[in-house]
Amino acid sequence: MQPDSTQPPIQASTVIRNIGQLVTVAQQPIAGASGVLQVISDAAIAVHDGVIVWIGPDDQVELMFEGDPTSEDDGITIVDAQGVVVTPGFVDSHTHLVFAGDRSEEFHLRRAGLSYGELLTQGRGILTTVNATRSADTELLTEMAITRLHTMCQYGTTTVEAKTGYGLDMITEEACLRILNNLNAMETSPSYKYKRVRVVPTFLGAHVVPPEYRERRSAYVDLIVEEMLPSFVGLARFCDVFCEREAFSVEECHRILARAKELGYELKIHADQLSPSGGAKLAAELGAISADHLDHADDLDRLRDAGVVATLLPGCSYSLRSPYPSARRFIDRGLHVALATDFNPGTSYCENMQMILSLAMSSMGMSVEEALQAVTINGARGLALHEEIGSIEIGKRCELALWSVRDYHEIGYHFGVNLIQSVLIVS
Ligand code: NIG
Ligand code: FE
Repeated sequence: MQPDSTQPPIQASTVIRNIGQLVTVAQQPIAGASGVLQVISDAAIAVHDGVIVWIGPDDQVELMFEGDPTSEDDGITIVDAQGVVVTPGFVDSHTHLVFAGDRSEEFHLRRAGLSYGELLTQGRGILTTVNATRSADTELLTEMAITRLHTMCQYGTTTVEAKTGYGLDMITEEACLRILNNLNAMETSPSYKYKRVRVVPTFLGAHVVPPEYRERRSAYVDLIVEEMLPSFVGLARFCDVFCEREAFSVEECHRILARAKELGYELKIHADQLSPSGGAKLAAELGAISADHLDHADDLDRLRDAGVVATLLPGCSYSLRSPYPSARRFIDRGLHVALATDFNPGTSYCENMQMILSLAMSSMGMSVEEALQAVTINGARGLALHEEIGSIEIGKRCELALWSVRDYHEIGYHFGVNLIQSVLIVS
């Protein structure tokens, strides 16, 4: 085929060809795409310096590029997608990635009738993990985090937000933040050739009051506000709090988050998970990027008007056997809904975003299209990264999930198995 002389050739370092169904989740109309997810059949993508430079029909590839995209001799890496579905990689916007220890006993105690809140007030729950994490060394914590990232990636995740919150002292919180930052320089994806899952670090010093401060909780809030937050600037992009009767009050959370905002952190809140605790309102008032859980949240209009992303975490409902929040309540009011694993040892020991997609479709009233948006572009919104990732569009990073299915309608329908063949994070 002769090159098209009317258009300058495009420079590309990688071309992904033979994509059976390209589910772009684009936010702007794309030529030749249809449906709410902007799907293109028989498509190709070209990438340069990790950024998508062209999307179009596979049969136009040979006309478009400098060099011969059918041959690797011209320095272009060709990836053959073999006719499968390709979506953006999952953005898991809420995880507690770094911890040591085991809480399986608690999981089974809950089956025998104890509640999560009861275990927490007995000094178990999160505090069990705090003890184990404080006693673990950096190598072990790093190794476990890498293993978990590998699993996440094998199930389709390419970006992971990761919180501290199991150190709750200067030394361990800082060590966990450094581990999270260092993961960004390591080979954390098992994907062939392209190795890095992106990790977005969040400081969650206000997870619970640690035992040594039980009788003087305001001194712990002082420690967070006066020492931890100023010291961790640059190590964490977000500051999060657990706003709940068993954890921190609205007033305490307000103090912590207001200081964090002054210092340049973006904000997140664990809000209204176990009871209506006022966290959602606080998120709106302070302009948080996301409010997460929201099982008992009301006044959703305020959240929407403040542009706060509603991050729903069905893994917790599954694990705690509590009612699933209805995603319809949020979507029908015009909020952006993200879905995330909330990977943690207490309420959602699950690395797998496909499981989360399935739960959202089976138990939260979401369509496959809504659920796919929630795990990609809306996850990216929940990290304020939606200009960079979360959809397949020109100008965005090329971070893809290659599925073993040929039609995206199989997602959610075929459940309980890993439908991801591989992820492709082009750098
Ligand atoms: O998001 N709710 C607070 N934090 C976690 C649970 C942490 C734990 O139990 O270890 C959550 O559910
Ligand atoms: Fe959480």
